[in-house]
Amino acid sequence: MSLKEHIQTDRIPQHIAIIMDGNGRWAQEQGQDRLFGHYHGVASVRDIVEGCSELGVGYLTLYAFSTENWDRPEKEVTGLMELLVETIRKEVPILKKNNIRMHAIGAITMLPPKARMALQEAIDMTVENTGLNLIMALSYSSRWELVEAVRKIAQDVREGVISPEQIDQETVQQYLSTSQFPDPELMIRTSGEYRISNFLLYQLAYAELYFTQTRWPDFRKENLYEAIIDYQNRERRFGKTSAQLNEALTKN
Ligand code: IPE
Ligand code: IPE
Ligand code: MG
Repeated sequence: MSLKEHIQTDRIPQHIAIIMDGNGRWAQEQGQDRLFGHYHGVASVRDIVEGCSELGVGYLTLYAFSTENWDRPEKEVTGLMELLVETIRKEVPILKKNNIRMHAIGAITMLPPKARMALQEAIDMTVENTGLNLIMALSYSSRWELVEAVRKIAQDVREGVISPEQIDQETVQQYLSTSQFPDPELMIRTSGEYRISNFLLYQLAYAELYFTQTRWPDFRKENLYEAIIDYQNRERRFGKTSAQLNEALTKN
């Protein structure tokens, strides 16, 4: 029996964010080159995108390449960029067919021109889609994003578009690269590392964090279902007490 049957369909997280980690170790454990792991990670991406789409998840953010990943050996970076272009080209028809809309966050201008073009094409070709929003975090880091936001806010203050007194949490949210998306309720990291690695620091303020030992190339729908069930068994208190939450529940 699939774990899917244990998911409460009325409490699916609207936004799931995933740190897809462990490709390199997965490959090296089999005596293979790290890139072998990245190639196998694509099958997991396909499966998880499909899984989220079937469950009716609204937004899926995938951390595919961080600002810090530019410092990896050149061979790996080039290989990853080639894989990105190849994958996007291959997957766009499937995204279109499945009503999935592609977005990207990060310093996209840092990407090689071919990757940038493929990405832009995928974004443009799926713009009318109304199903799952697939957000690729590429050349992304949260501190980069926050610095960009502060810079834009400062410019708008200088130009008189807003005044410092007007700045509130809503303003900050609007200047982030995720301004069009709700905050993730569930963040998953694969491969047994317990850290955030510069991912959505602001947006994850109240997300439920789920860590699994499974390496990304082994992560499939059943693993996703397990994470969602775990999420559904948690009490999200947002600073309140358990009693307050239960009281609110009985009133409704
Ligand atoms: C995640 O897997 C993919 C990227 C960061 C691009 P890693 O490449 O980090 O794999 P490990 O963590 O070294 O095993
Ligand atoms: C985080 O993984 C970035 C992505 C999954 C794209 P890393 O493997 O780069 O993170 P660290 O270095 O273990 O923190
Ligand atoms: Mg890693």
